[in-house]
Order: sequence, then C-alpha cells, then structure tokens
Amino acid sequence: MKPAPQTFHVKSFGCQMNVYDGERMAELMAAQGLRATDDAASADLVVLNTCHIRERATEKVYSDIGRIRKDAGKAGRAPMIAVAGCVAQAEGEEIVRRAKVDVVVGPQSYHNLPALVADAAAGLAALDTEMPLLSKFGALPARRRVGPSAFLTVQEGCDKFCTYCVVPYTRGAEISRPFAAIVDEAKALVDAGAREITLLGQNVNAWSDDGGPAGSRGLHDLIRTLDRIPGLARIRYTTSHPNDMTQGLIDAHGDVESLMPFLHLPVQSGSTRILKAMNRSHGRDDYLRLLDRVRAVRPDIALSGDFIVGFPGETEADFAETLSLVDAVGYAQAFSFKYSARPGTPAAAMAGAVPPEVMDDRLQRLQAALNRDQHAFNLASVGRTCSLLIERRGKLPGQMLGKSPWLQSVHLIGDHAIGDLVSVTLAAAGPNSLTGAANIAVAA
Ligand code: 5AD
Ligand code: SF4
Repeated sequence: MKPAPQTFHVKSFGCQMNVYDGERMAELMAAQGLRATDDAASADLVVLNTCHIRERATEKVYSDIGRIRKDAGKAGRAPMIAVAGCVAQAEGEEIVRRAKVDVVVGPQSYHNLPALVADAAAGLAALDTEMPLLSKFGALPARRRVGPSAFLTVQEGCDKFCTYCVVPYTRGAEISRPFAAIVDEAKALVDAGAREITLLGQNVNAWSDDGGPAGSRGLHDLIRTLDRIPGLARIRYTTSHPNDMTQGLIDAHGDVESLMPFLHLPVQSGSTRILKAMNRSHGRDDYLRLLDRVRAVRPDIALSGDFIVGFPGETEADFAETLSLVDAVGYAQAFSFKYSARPGTPAAAMAGAVPPEVMDDRLQRLQAALNRDQHAFNLASVGRTCSLLIERRGKLPGQMLGKSPWLQSVHLIGDHAIGDLVSVTLAAAGPNSLTGAANIAVAA
C-alpha cells in the first residue's frame, strides 16, 4: 500500500494524440486536487503515457520506470507509477508482472485514472484496458488553460490494418467524436488561450458524423464550422490516410483561409509492390496524383510524410522507388523510420527480413534526401511575407519563436507576446528553422 498521492507528473511518449491524452490526464488529476510537478523524481504519482509503435519506444518505457525508481530512491521516495497509453493496452498485466507498477490504464479508459489511483492506494489491483462503447471524453473536465497552439482529438482508432502497424490493436476501431462536442471543445480552447487548433486522429480525415437530418458530415464540414469561431486564427489536422482525402477536404484547402497550407500525408514507401504488402490499399501513382490535386487548389502547400525503410522483402529497387518518389514530391518535412516487427501484426510473420545494416544504410540515404528537400523548401520561402504565431521565448535576449503557416520554426527579435500573430517577412533559412523580420502592421 502507498499513501494517496498529493503531487503528480505526466510524461508522454510518441504521437501528438498521446500529448493530448497526457494533457487531459493532467487536467483530470488536477481536478482531483493533486498538484502538477515538473520533476518526475519528486512526484508522488508518475504517469507514463506510453507508445507502442516501434520496439524501441516500448523498451524505453521499461528503462524509464527503472530510472524514475532509482532517482526517487536516492531521495528515499517510492512514487506510485501508472502506465497509460498504448503499451498499457498491448501488454496489460505483463507490465505489472515485469515492472511491478501500481496502475495500468489503456488509452480508451484513462478517465478512470483517479479511481484506479485510489484502488492502488488501497492496495488493490488497478488495471483497466477496456475499450468502452461510451467515450471517455464526456467524463473529462473542461479545458481551462492552454498555449497558443492546442491539440484537439476528434477521431481515434484505425480500421486500415496496415500489416506492420499495432494501432488498430492498441487504439481499437475508428470512432469519431460527435460534431457538437468538438465544436464546444474548440470554443473552450479558444477561450482558454488557443489561437491555433490542430485536429488530431489516427485517421483524422476519416472523421465523420452522421449529422442526423443534416446529412453526413466530413472533416471539411467540421473545418468550415471551426473557421467561423471568433479568435481562432489557424486550423491544422493530422494525421491523414491518402484514401480518406476527399474532394471536399481538398477543396477546403483552396478556400478556407484559416486552414493552414500544410498536409501530413504518410506514404510509407514509393514502391507499389511494397505498398501492396503493407496493405496500404493505394499505389505510388495514386498518391502522386492525389498530391497533384491538392497542389492544384493550393500551390504553396507544404507536404509532409512518414516513411518506413526495410519492410520485409524490400529490395534495393523498391527503395530506389522511395527515393524517386521523394524527389518527385519535394517534401517540406518528413519522418522516416526503420521497420520494427511488432508482435501480433501480419508483417511480423513475413519472410524476407532486411538485415539491420541495410536498413541503417537506407535510412541514412533517405534522411539525407529528406533533409536536402526540407532545406530547399525553407530556402524557397525566403522573401515570403506571412503570419507568425508566437509560441515561446527564444534563447537569445529579445528573441521569440513562432510557426509560419507552413509549420516552419521561425526566430524573430522583437517585443511580441506569446500568442501574438505577427506579420513577418522571412529573411534567412537554415535546414531546421528560419529567421523573420516583423512588418509594421500586425496581422489579425
Ligand atoms: N515499424 C516502423 N515504423 C512504423 N510506423 C508504424 N508502425 C511501424 C513499424 N512497425 C511508422 C509509420 C507511421 C508512423 C506513425 O510510424 O510510418 O506512419
Ligand atoms: Fe497504422 Fe496504417 Fe492505421 Fe496508420 S493507417 S494507424 S499506419 S494501420
């Protein structure tokens, strides 16, 4: 038995949806009267909000648990440890056996965290990896204070079953939050200080709402409604599947001013043969044609993607097709990973494992190409005038950091407040960031 905790620390790993869930768990514990602390080693309760997407992410959880215990132990403390997120969902009781943690709670049931913590304090087993039909969102406290750029989860889960991916198993089937609940949360976020909202979902562009008599609504309808919220200057969404990119959503990129010119659209591989083995249900050319349609309505759009190298059976010729797709697209930024076999996924049983040194080599070559393109995109932005959302102070005196519409990090010297939207001219570009100079007028 451990005493009921007075202070807590939430640490999130992995994707932006986990960041969102981590914030909501923190709000939930604060609403119970617990105090947040930045230092895991001094907290009475440490919540590790975990990621299961690749093997290294999973192993990190176990090493983190060990480190937290060691650091706290030096101060004679033994914090209560709760494992939340996708590792909790996938491993369940195995975590309790392996790491003797106090609480295990899956991503669909974290609204029960306070009750589970109370159970653990009473010496009871505290494990909840249910995927209840009733959404957790209704049981979470209202949003009160957020930064200028806030996340809002609108859709969860995935029905696509790409053969390498654990998400359909850890996050469950695709579900969309109701339209009215999202609009209410967006208004609450704006009241709490947000100027920009990023709509989140594992397949965010699959969001839909049957809309009752109003007829079925898609993500573009939601975006057009949020666009009318006073004070909300910018809307983004991530992450999308190519097959859910409807014409309505493409059109919104052409005429909704607050929808930022940025699209994260993972492709994973440039080889149609590998895409088929991945069960992506689109080929290389489908993807390229889709991007042409997006660029037709929004020529300046910044494109981003995810790539996996070394999927089972990937030959040098397949990989060359990935490199040539990268050349054809010219990404503004992208994420690339070595394939990691995940237990229980179809790809884990496939023949044709790619040797680790070949994966390393391909990842290096891919990242060199992606870095080159990112730098080229930044250089091509020099001279542009745009709005900058100021997000935080920089390291140098008087320096502020913000994001351009194309999601570039921009440094600026000037007397601006966090949350200001400033009109700037982009003056110089490096591979990872740019510098800007404020124009006289301040953008709305
Ligand atoms: N191995 C490597 N990368 C993976 N991703 C998902 N599953 C795996 C895996 N088993 C990558 C994909 C996805 C991103 C979130 O993580 O690129 O788009
Ligand atoms: Fe995983 Fe594919 Fe679903 Fe994305 S679309 S979450 S990669 S199964």
